[in-house]
Amino acid sequence: METKRIYIKDTEHVRDEELLEAAEIIRRGGLVAFPTETVYGLGGNALDEDAAKKIYAAKGRPSDNPLIAHVSCPEEVEPLVEYMPEAGKKLMEAFWPGPLTMIFPKSSRVPYGTTGGLETVAVRMPSDPVANRLIALAGVPIAAPSANTSGRPSPTTADHVWQDMNGRIDMIIDGGPVGIGVESTIVDVSGDVPTLLRPGAITMEMLRETVGRVEIDPAIQAPPSADLRPKAPGMKYRHYAPKAPVTVVRGDPAQTAAYIAQHIGEKTGVMCFDEYRDCFPGCVVECFGSENDLGTQAREVFDRLRAFDDTDVRQIWAQCPSDEGLGLAVANRIKKAAGFSVVEV
Ligand code: TXA
Ligand code: MG
Repeated sequence: METKRIYIKDTEHVRDEELLEAAEIIRRGGLVAFPTETVYGLGGNALDEDAAKKIYAAKGRPSDNPLIAHVSCPEEVEPLVEYMPEAGKKLMEAFWPGPLTMIFPKSSRVPYGTTGGLETVAVRMPSDPVANRLIALAGVPIAAPSANTSGRPSPTTADHVWQDMNGRIDMIIDGGPVGIGVESTIVDVSGDVPTLLRPGAITMEMLRETVGRVEIDPAIQAPPSADLRPKAPGMKYRHYAPKAPVTVVRGDPAQTAAYIAQHIGEKTGVMCFDEYRDCFPGCVVECFGSENDLGTQAREVFDRLRAFDDTDVRQIWAQCPSDEGLGLAVANRIKKAAGFSVVEV
């Protein structure tokens, strides 16, 4: 399959003519990768089971891992859900459009092919103008997982998407690098107490300020096991991982840098904060932002993890922020890339 690539220069003022062909592809049951404020998505018609099948095939993703339905306005949620929980309403008002996905009880209109067989559906309204306009023009909710091959780091540029999806989908819309860089926060509002299933730019602190009590799915902090099944099926798979094994070292940054420096072996990669760039002689060093700049860390983390795959490193050490604010999301992605292989110093 030939993959067409189009480029949107002024994403803030994208014109409808620029997106009509992409919208038509979605309506016809085809696949289009598009930018969102979090990561690039791989979109297809969320109400079309065959489109969902094509998405799973293009990503090489197990089909029990459900997709997020993206809408362009709050009114488009109603047909997708059985009812709107009170917490869902509040969170929608506070954080939509934006990097928040919510899990609702699904209506009969949403096919099981999209929800991986679940009775719930994940819904998100992105703020990115290209994403938002594309959904509106398509006239259907767009199912969109991150546009990476299953298991690889999520794509934050159209080039990442091209690396993984060229020849597998109909079109890639290039809207430049994304603003946030880690996927949306996922909150399950289908039960009694809202539960965080995946941390993101809408932080735990922000959620609690809006709805009070919020629980955390333990799978965010620990490896999946037989008695610890993540509620977001996607969290059980190895994820975000470069080809070489990653070990995370957590603690005070100066100490973690010292620990890593003492453990340099042959063909070693290090993903570190900018401040420690020069501490690892002979290593392939990828910096992902200053130790106190979580915004840059979120934007850079997937791109830096991908960069190791162009090298011959055999092992990778990674520094990691602590769990406050956006740090919880960045730390979660690094730990997942490491398969939860973590050293505390
Ligand atoms: O930022 C994002 O959310 C990006 C952009 C493209 O919007 N999308 C994204 O989709 O990250 P994906 O498919 O890579 O991750 C969706 C996660 C998966 O871990 C999946 O298991 C979980 O959401 N999920 C989807 N539907 C669910 C449901 N009904 N119940 C629990 N988890 C669900
Ligand atoms: Mg993903």
